[in-house]
Amino acid sequence: MPSSASSSPSPSPCYYYFFFFYFVLVFLVSGSFAGDPYAFFDWTVSYITASPLGVKQQVIGINGKFPGPILNVTTNWNVVVNVKNQLDEPFLLTWNGIQHRKNSWQDGVLGTNCPIPAGWNWTYQFQVKDQIGSFFYFPTLSFQKAAGGYGGIIVNNRDIIPLPFALPDGDVTLFISDWYTKSHKELREKIDNGDDLGVPYGILINGFGPYRYDDALVPEGITYQIINIEPGKTYRFRVHNVGVSTSLNFRIQNHNLLLVETEGSYTVQQNYTNMDIHVGQSYSFLVTMDQNASSDYYIVASPRYVNSSVWTKASGVAILHYSNSQGPTSGPLPDPPNESDTYFSMSQARSIRWNVSASAARPNPQGSFKYGQIDVTDVYVILNRPAELIDGKLRTTLNGISYLPPSTPLKLAQQYNVLGVYKLDFPNVVMNRPPKFDTSLINGTFKGFMEIIFQNNDTTVQTYHLDGYAFFVVGMDFGVWTENSRATYNKWDGVARCTTQVFPGAWTAILVSLDNAGIWNLRAQNLDSWYMGQEVYVSVVNPEADKSEVPLPDNTIYCGLLSSLQRDQSHRYKFSGSTTHSTVSRTILVTLLIAIYGISIGYR
Ligand SMILES: *[C@@H]1O[C@H](CO)[C@@H](O)[C@H](O)[C@H]1NC(C)=O
Ligand SMILES: *[C@@H]1O[C@H](CO)[C@@H](O)[C@H](O)[C@H]1NC(C)=O
Ligand SMILES: *[C@@H]1O[C@H](CO)[C@@H](O)[C@H](O)[C@H]1NC(C)=O
Ligand SMILES: *[C@@H]1O[C@H](CO)[C@@H](O)[C@H](O)[C@H]1NC(C)=O
Ligand SMILES: *[C@@H]1O[C@H](CO)[C@@H](O)[C@H](O)[C@H]1NC(C)=O
Ligand SMILES: *[C@@H]1O[C@H](CO)[C@@H](O)[C@H](O)[C@H]1NC(C)=O
Ligand SMILES: *[C@@H]1O[C@H](CO)[C@@H](O)[C@H](O)[C@H]1NC(C)=O
Ligand SMILES: *[C@@H]1O[C@H](CO)[C@@H](O)[C@H](O)[C@H]1NC(C)=O
Ligand SMILES: *[C@@H]1O[C@H](CO)[C@@H](O)[C@H](O)[C@H]1NC(C)=O
Repeated sequence: MPSSASSSPSPSPCYYYFFFFYFVLVFLVSGSFAGDPYAFFDWTVSYITASPLGVKQQVIGINGKFPGPILNVTTNWNVVVNVKNQLDEPFLLTWNGIQHRKNSWQDGVLGTNCPIPAGWNWTYQFQVKDQIGSFFYFPTLSFQKAAGGYGGIIVNNRDIIPLPFALPDGDVTLFISDWYTKSHKELREKIDNGDDLGVPYGILINGFGPYRYDDALVPEGITYQIINIEPGKTYRFRVHNVGVSTSLNFRIQNHNLLLVETEGSYTVQQNYTNMDIHVGQSYSFLVTMDQNASSDYYIVASPRYVNSSVWTKASGVAILHYSNSQGPTSGPLPDPPNESDTYFSMSQARSIRWNVSASAARPNPQGSFKYGQIDVTDVYVILNRPAELIDGKLRTTLNGISYLPPSTPLKLAQQYNVLGVYKLDFPNVVMNRPPKFDTSLINGTFKGFMEIIFQNNDTTVQTYHLDGYAFFVVGMDFGVWTENSRATYNKWDGVARCTTQVFPGAWTAILVSLDNAGIWNLRAQNLDSWYMGQEVYVSVVNPEADKSEVPLPDNTIYCGLLSSLQRDQSHRYKFSGSTTHSTVSRTILVTLLIAIYGISIGYR
């Protein structure tokens, strides 16, 4: 008998998640910061053992769970997460899609935060201001995301703001991802050596391998995910592609996926039989359990844009189990989209539109913000190419620049006026010069309206994500973008989201209102492209001092050129077995580690 992990969404609107385990204390603090509630979380990050594909390996767990706990909060809540790093290397989490209004200090990327050294803890504190929707968090350093450490973020509507659909009977989060049986350290070593990662070992759903739908393709003894549901009910499925680099087609056998939300925007509600979900993207679907339960049904996540003759093993398969099911499902998986139809995925992407009359974080219709009528102030055409050699290293670039992370975070350097850490000279278009390493930022105009065109000259799908913002996806097409391409833009109901795909040999255009001061990461979500240098930061400075950003947090960790400011850490979280060092030797050790880390990432 294969083992299985089963989960049932409990009755409305309770949450089903079977490894649901975390404590959240919610204090309704009246009269405090904005009068909004606080939610406190205590997370320990450590290696745990798992064998999702039948091979025992080390994965990153949070509170012993892989995937980690779901951060379930409501618009405007203050979130406090104390992260204890029990790994053997520095760690940071980012909150993909959370906008951290005027507060890039909490963004958890190397440009804004010093890494949390091994054995230390650090407390994130941020407000999920003016947001709703489905997002996820993940580790940002050292290829750790390939080992897990991720989990869901749900930002619920406030009670006073109705959902643009009937309250679902249950809520199901699904993480879909490509997966390697090599550790993240081995994977990053491969990339450091200029090697390709090769074909993933399989596709996971919620950290589990596939149901044995085909004896020849799936070995015995793999634990798979079962989603238990009741006939006739409607569930909200929040699906996140948390993988390394593979676009996945998601579908549920015989069931329609009614798209209702993506990355914080309610969409025009449309049925799909399947959806291409690219790395870093999140979608909510309503699924009505309207089948006759003559058997269970397959839930599938299969790779897209790959050579299927070498990828036969790699489909993620979970089971949708009606309480009145007549028995297990068998036979082939539901069909994927036609692989030779190159337009399918782009047409599908273009069909996703914003519901301009739905309320979201605020009761006023989103449609009152008519982005199509705002004048663009800055235009960037950002080109990516396949990895190329720079100073003898295989690197990826944006406009010919491979991002070089300084040992001092950009944001800290800005705060302390440390000069020479970065430049604000990222080019508007690719320059006719050899590719190079640099720490070159986009100089954003505060309250400006920026148009970015991503031009993908690589042969694989890339996705790009901007921290701190939602942007409007207004156009995409094959070929090379020209000024005339603007005639095809959707100026009315392009969806606002935080991660967009750019097809190979194609472009995607976005518009973004730069109203959020800070230094914000713009990155490839494909982990290998990102790790090899495909990122840049956008600096957005409010010239008016009285409308300043959230101040530097008290618990800031210092590193690089500012490491001398690091306070004594004797009060820090101590985990058992590490209490033998004196504070002094520990401080020396830590400073050394940070220095080594700084050097090593400098040469990454
Ligand atoms: C999230 O928490 C709310 C209470 O604030 C609860 O009603 C809801 O069922 C929870 N949702 C999930 C998905 O856990
Ligand atoms: C580390 O955790 C302790 C409690 O365990 C907390 O008091 C302290 O503020 C945390 N340190 C940081 C830097 O967040
Ligand atoms: C858009 O949202 C409105 C308001 O909630 C809702 O009534 C309507 O059905 C939605 N329209 C579509 C096409 O999804
Ligand atoms: C979506 O499909 C369901 C059946 O699964 C149907 O009841 C519903 O009317 C469809 N909705 C739309 C907007 O097409
Ligand atoms: C259930 O539905 C399937 C597929 O639509 C059909 O082949 C089967 O006959 C139905 N079974 C019953 C008991 O209605
Ligand atoms: C797919 O892989 C097979 C086996 O390696 C190879 O023979 C074939 O040429 C590949 N097809 C394409 C389109 O790359
Ligand atoms: C798949 O798409 C190709 C190209 O559009 C078309 O020629 C072919 O007939 C399609 N195959 C199927 C099974 O629909
Ligand atoms: C960055 O842009 C601001 C206007 O938004 C301008 O005042 C400043 O000079 C620019 N800085 C550089 C280095 O170009
Ligand atoms: C990349 O750019 C070159 C030169 O403009 C062009 O010939 C090639 O077709 C492009 N490839 C892709 C995948 O866009």
